[in-house]
Amino acid sequence: MTEWTKEQRYQRYEDVDQQTIETLTEQVNQSKYRQIFHIQPKIGLLNDPNGLIYFKGNYYVSHQWFPLGPVHGLKYWYTYQSKDLVEFEAIGPTIKPDTKDDSHGVYSGSAFEYHDHLYYMYTANHRDSDWNRISTQHIAKMAKDGSINKFPKAVISEPPFGYTQHFRDPKVHVQNGVYYAMIAAQNIKKQGRILQYRSTDIVNWEFQGEIQTNLDDFGYMWECPDYFNLNGYDMLLFCPQGIDSEGERFKNIYQSGYIMGQYDINNLTMNHGDFHELDYGFDFYAPQTFLDENNQRILIGWMGLPEINYPSDADGWAHCLTIPRVLTIESGNLKQRPIKALEKLRTNEETALGYANKFTRQLHPYEGKQFELIIDILENEATEVYFEVRTSKTESTLITYNKREQKLTLDRSESGQLPGPVEGTTRSTYLDTPLSKLQLFVDTSSVEIFCNDGELVMTTRIFTDENATGIKTSTESGQTYLKFTKYDLKGDIK
Ligand code: FRU
Repeated sequence: MTEWTKEQRYQRYEDVDQQTIETLTEQVNQSKYRQIFHIQPKIGLLNDPNGLIYFKGNYYVSHQWFPLGPVHGLKYWYTYQSKDLVEFEAIGPTIKPDTKDDSHGVYSGSAFEYHDHLYYMYTANHRDSDWNRISTQHIAKMAKDGSINKFPKAVISEPPFGYTQHFRDPKVHVQNGVYYAMIAAQNIKKQGRILQYRSTDIVNWEFQGEIQTNLDDFGYMWECPDYFNLNGYDMLLFCPQGIDSEGERFKNIYQSGYIMGQYDINNLTMNHGDFHELDYGFDFYAPQTFLDENNQRILIGWMGLPEINYPSDADGWAHCLTIPRVLTIESGNLKQRPIKALEKLRTNEETALGYANKFTRQLHPYEGKQFELIIDILENEATEVYFEVRTSKTESTLITYNKREQKLTLDRSESGQLPGPVEGTTRSTYLDTPLSKLQLFVDTSSVEIFCNDGELVMTTRIFTDENATGIKTSTESGQTYLKFTKYDLKGDIK
């Protein structure tokens, strides 16, 4: 692919002629990788979900967006509105880079309600003439007509003493009338941190300090923090950069995970257990959470990672958001399940009951490109059981379960074109309980695998041929008694 110059990366969408946009749109629309039930950019690149909120009867879901190509250039916020987090209507670009502070991008941030209005807090990214980064935190308010008005100046104009300009992604929450912002930071020793600010009027923000964890030396930067209480547990989510892989863990370029325990918001001390990854697939990063209309904690992630080229780049676009997941804590463990409203997308139910054995079986008439597949493992005597989706003569996306090790492996080595550079072509993880259920959401170019009713998730892009539509099962030796339920899925994203 041609190299993008700085001038091209930092060109404003508004300054580009209509013909260029139309040509790019046509190119993107012809891409064979376009998704149908995931939020994806109309053109260009999507990254982090931003400003997620349920406000006065509507959900608002925004994302980082560079419109002019599949690269990380001048970022905008692009926003959708929804009644149910399944059908979405585009509002369009909302927070745009149009001031000196955000001359090099409106970066990630969050939404909150204050005195009956919707507000966003986000990072403005500026580069000075020597290309030094200057990060400031800003607030914008949504007016009655839906337009977004930025406050005239930054509410946090610089990082505190002892921290670098890697200072971004404010996540705001309110507790007893006090507003807190958790901000991703790096200290001058180049260690990732989360800083806490407080405010009672959302204009004046007092720096309280950094959150104290046991993870003193755990990467050079922590991006996209999130904090909430879930079923009595305090959860701190963040995305550490600079962690080496350890066996099957931390294999992606950057990590996205959580620590859970008890957080003292006044003393800023977090008592916590291990850092856990939120997802065990290849393509997951920068998630954000919010409360839905029933007070359930919902998570949406970016189905992609920085610094990796994706096959859809050649078609002028990159990435999508994950489907929304409901988070709960059950018996002290985090569970993640697809939101129930996704059932609205189901059509054509097909079910089958039968044995898988060492002879590979094509599940006729099962096939599809965009579908949900629920596999109940009713009895499992097999050493290894294999499930394949999006198969053709030459392609297959393979899920393997090894009974002895209780190990689940996702192999995309034959899934078609591969993103790169990426470490390896498999991702594996160990289950706490034997495999009893898989729930797969397959879109044109992605697979999200929910295992054992919320125990873990593996999220992955695949760039498979259009004719790869088969679904197969088999075992290494021994047999497995299975129930399959499959639905075709439709999409409704305008
Ligand atoms: C994470 C991130 C954020 C930043 C945004 C810029 O993917 O690097 O830290 O705000 O993307 O697009």
